[in-house]
Amino acid sequence: MAIILSIETSCDETAVAIIKNNKLLSNVVSTQIKVHQKYGGVVPEIASRLHTENIISVLKIAIKKAKLKFSDLDAVAVTRGPGLVSALHIGLQVAKTLSLILNIPIIAVHHLAAHIYSCEFVKKLKFPLVALIVSGGNTELVLMNKELNFEIIGQTRDDAIGECFDKVARILKLPYPGGVLIDKLSQKGQYTYKLPTPLSKERTYDFSYSGLKTAVFNLVKNKKKINIHNLCFSFEKTAIDVLIKKVNMFLSENKKIKQFLLAGGVSANTYLRNQVIKKISKKIDVIIPPLWCTTDNAAMVAKLAEHLYIKKKFSDLDIDIDPNWKIEDFSI
Ligand code: KG4
Repeated sequence: MAIILSIETSCDETAVAIIKNNKLLSNVVSTQIKVHQKYGGVVPEIASRLHTENIISVLKIAIKKAKLKFSDLDAVAVTRGPGLVSALHIGLQVAKTLSLILNIPIIAVHHLAAHIYSCEFVKKLKFPLVALIVSGGNTELVLMNKELNFEIIGQTRDDAIGECFDKVARILKLPYPGGVLIDKLSQKGQYTYKLPTPLSKERTYDFSYSGLKTAVFNLVKNKKKINIHNLCFSFEKTAIDVLIKKVNMFLSENKKIKQFLLAGGVSANTYLRNQVIKKISKKIDVIIPPLWCTTDNAAMVAKLAEHLYIKKKFSDLDIDIDPNWKIEDFSI
């Protein structure tokens, strides 16, 4: 079986992993969160500069941990999109260089499809399945009728759910990335603030989060005193209950679905994980990714790359990044 090295630099994590025959030999992530925290969010220019500074040492650590030489590699996989333009470029240029020098094929990977395939670290995927991708940049309900085939069933019409967590955190003067702290604070809170749940009554699988963010902003501006724990929980419950409702609506209308997958950074959320167990797992087989692979990493890129390697889905060296790559266009 092939040895594949994978690279992920779509946002603020510089990551490299190596996989052989379904087994991770190394998985290295260098996060930039501390630097971006000072600015309240990811600054693309700084992200690309840090990727440039860090990628070679991350690469060397990954090779050393896997006890390999560069010449042992059979292919190099890389996130081509979606993501930040200047950040994606760094990973792709390094992948192209390795491909050229080592004379090995290059495999272009879709970031969100990789999030879905991270669930394979738990168990085998069963088709047809439906995946809920919840991250800083995306909120998508994706149907997979078969392997490497993706159809968007619903998506956000404005802000992504993770973006909403981060913006609400900023309103509450909490540090970036806000999701983690809102999760923590909400655990001591109760549902006391009634907030709007956009698109929850319409018969659509689409989502909308910008109105919820504005409602929190207005509430904080107009109230003299707020209970931060209760507000965090009220917000979190409002943002997440609508996800569960839409997934259940889809499952009740599509009885052939065999599995439900949760993926993306927001899938680390405690309330969301509990609600999936309580309200979905009794009806259908569920995969919730382990916490270590909810946020951006290269292990998930490697996992998906193994499937593409078997199908010989290689790219030419003149391939470019695609910051707005639609998951449907990645289907085979
Ligand atoms: O998937 P990811 O690492 O990056 C993107 O590709 O977008 O997701 C990052 C997002 C951030 O918005 C962060 O606030 C959110 O995931 N997040 C959480 C939690 N941990 C990370 N949101 C809610 N609860 C969490 N525990």
